[in-house]
Amino acid sequence: MLRNFELLYFRNLVKLRKDDIIKGMKTEIIRMDEGAIRKEDIQKAGSLIKQGELVAFPTETVYGLGADALNKDASRKIYAAKGRPSDNPLIVHISEFSALEKIVVSVPESARRLAEAFWPGPLTMCFYKKDIVPDETTGGLPTVGVRMPNHPVALEFIRGAGGYIAAPSANTSGRPSPTLASHVFEDMNGIIPLILDGGAVGIGIESTIVDFTGEGISILRPGFITKEMIEEVTGMPVQIDPAVNGTSPDAKPKAPGMKYRHYAPKAELTIIEGANQKAVMAYMAQLCKKALEEGKRCGIMVTQEQFKDFQELDGNPGFVMKNLGHEGDEASVAKTLYRVLREFDEEHVDVIYSEGFVQSGVGQAVMNRLIRAAGHRILFVPENG
Ligand code: TXA
Ligand code: MG
Repeated sequence: MLRNFELLYFRNLVKLRKDDIIKGMKTEIIRMDEGAIRKEDIQKAGSLIKQGELVAFPTETVYGLGADALNKDASRKIYAAKGRPSDNPLIVHISEFSALEKIVVSVPESARRLAEAFWPGPLTMCFYKKDIVPDETTGGLPTVGVRMPNHPVALEFIRGAGGYIAAPSANTSGRPSPTLASHVFEDMNGIIPLILDGGAVGIGIESTIVDFTGEGISILRPGFITKEMIEEVTGMPVQIDPAVNGTSPDAKPKAPGMKYRHYAPKAELTIIEGANQKAVMAYMAQLCKKALEEGKRCGIMVTQEQFKDFQELDGNPGFVMKNLGHEGDEASVAKTLYRVLREFDEEHVDVIYSEGFVQSGVGQAVMNRLIRAAGHRILFVPENG
């Protein structure tokens, strides 16, 4: 069943998707063991890709929805399957560095250094594209984002499928990116023929996107590879695109995907911040109590260390608390965030309150996703509560 908000996204693309749904395609899930990848599974996935079909696969960041990046009809299918706006370009995934030069006009020295340092890994780099990459893959842009993922299943799959896999995150547009094969199945069952199940992803949020097509180097989307890491490897200053956190209303994002509402849970999510953590937790508990009194179901997203502050609410049937990882360990939060947002959707909560995180290192990427999921709703608790 399609949910209302999903139907909204399908307005322009509903035709192709409807056909797919009528076909009622059977979606097969193949469990892949990283240590013992079976040749016949890679062949099966590769031959589907070569026929212009879609195959979902694990990467170290999130699951991708793959198609042959050099086949325009295959790329178009991705937009239809996701309900994705057609101006939002796809990242091309490769499995060896030599593949890069066949699809982009030139590779600056600083990009080479980044590739050496971080590929395979959670880094996407944007360059001017060669004509061999169809406009359908790049959402009409003259540039292309390229990434070599650090996951044995992804690398084998890309190799077995011709070397160039266009892949966005394998979620329906507007839903949290999938970090488990079961998330992909939730969104893509009946729509794609095959999901390669590599278990839980390692990182949990999407790659850092770096642009080489403007002046200097700029980050279009923060991720696990931070500004500081990029500056250190390139020896050059790195800008962060002003649209990244969407705080300046005039800023036009250079990554078109950043302008769309993303990662939205069904419940209204608010981030509660403040310098005094005790005061923040006390305020969250108070807000939650009030919501419960109003007959609402209330969710709380906090690191495990804060659980004790909500003991009073434990056992209340309308109260749902989710573990976001560990205090001071933003990578653990990155890994759990999208799963927790999906779980809240299933549990039909009405409001969610989340703690905020420091915006440095991986914390910047975590907060970038969390702020978007919250639709920029943030409450600041004064120092004294
Ligand atoms: O970690 C990842 O990057 C995952 C996995 C599957 O590799 N992929 C992913 O793709 O997050 P997607 O489509 O969900 O997000 C791609 C983002 C979008 O915001 C898009 O606008 C931007 O990358 N992008 C792609 N090509 C671009 C280009 N040529 N110029 C600027 N932005 C680009
Ligand atoms: Mg995405």
